[in-house]
Amino acid sequence: MHATALRELYRPLHDEAARQRFVGVLKGFANGTLEQQLAAHYESVLQPRFAREQGHAPRDRDEARALFESDPLFQLWGSMVYNSQDLMWQTVDETCRRIEADFEARARQVTAQPRGSLTLDPALVIPKPIADVEIHRQPGGYFASAGPDDLHAALIYFGTIELYRSAKGLSANAAVGEPGIGRFIVSVLKRRYPDLAPRRILDLGCGPGIETTALQEAFPEAEVHGVDLSAPFVKFAHAWAEDRGAAMHFRQADAQRTGYPDGHFDLIVSHILFHETWHDIAPRIFAEARRLLAPGGVFLNADVPYQPARMSIPKQVTNDWQVRNNGEPFWTGFADTDVAAKLREAGFAADEVVATYEPLGAGQYYFFGGRRARGAS
Ligand SMILES: C[S@@+](CC[C@H](N)C(=O)[O-])C[C@H]1O[C@@H](n2cnc3c(N)ncnc32)[C@H](O)[C@@H]1O
Repeated sequence: MHATALRELYRPLHDEAARQRFVGVLKGFANGTLEQQLAAHYESVLQPRFAREQGHAPRDRDEARALFESDPLFQLWGSMVYNSQDLMWQTVDETCRRIEADFEARARQVTAQPRGSLTLDPALVIPKPIADVEIHRQPGGYFASAGPDDLHAALIYFGTIELYRSAKGLSANAAVGEPGIGRFIVSVLKRRYPDLAPRRILDLGCGPGIETTALQEAFPEAEVHGVDLSAPFVKFAHAWAEDRGAAMHFRQADAQRTGYPDGHFDLIVSHILFHETWHDIAPRIFAEARRLLAPGGVFLNADVPYQPARMSIPKQVTNDWQVRNNGEPFWTGFADTDVAAKLREAGFAADEVVATYEPLGAGQYYFFGGRRARGAS
């Protein structure tokens, strides 16, 4: 019997925590201070130089890219972003490898007599191109699995969420694995759809299911489901829910073809699924969500607000660099997609569609989706 709960098992030791905090600070410096310096450098040096030579300022990232790539400050920024990403995986891996056997033993134990369910699909073909990509440059990617109990791909992803959480200044002793953005999504949902009382909820691309738990917390009477392509992720999500004593249902499936019946859900959400989805696939997921929604049901997705028209040229260039070099290959395709148009093409009526920004801290989150009219066929 392994008596320690999963959230108690994930505890970086002193030296691990120190290294992880260093990585968090380094990332904060590269993506914050240094990126701001780069933006100022663009305004004062790069843009005037380009304008002198070309007779106009760069109009988009494609025109500006070469200007940045030959600049030493940009090169410093890029190498710091790239190396801090490697350091992140190395330091989090240390903690994960140390606790993995205990974590997997506890997961086996708490899932032996489950309240909820786990449905795996060993025959599932992971769609291309995501099948061939190590998103975020995660070593081995989301789908690697060395056996039925192997949770490593999910555990290391989880560890990086914890690293970012502690880098934001939350105490090392604060509860591990608390949903963050999941609770924010719930607050947006409740404000926008105060009458919503879902009986069945689906989280598309639920990953390790941490944010999914916010839905179960907010709607305790509802049946909460999560689907994800990755077997280790849904296994982790199942174990995490069981360890919390929550009856939730996880399924390994492609969000394009989930296998649930028509009209099965009153609420379908996703968090940061679509910027990791090839832009050709996203419309098929929209159509599947429309099929799965009951009349009056809501589809709401939260994602990164990186639409190019909203971004300065330096931000467009640094984002594009992340796409090319740092394991975010679908980011630009998503940002360039007119999601409202694609939702309409997928069968949502124009007056059902939302595509908007919600404030969060100093920044914003992109929300899009739609509501299926009551009585809609
Ligand atoms: C950035 S993760 C987000 C996970 C989770 N929503 C969270 O907030 O932590 C994106 C997830 O989407 C999943 N995913 C990508 N394409 C998918 C698809 N076509 N069907 C189901 N899941 C998918 C990936 O496996 C991954 O777990």
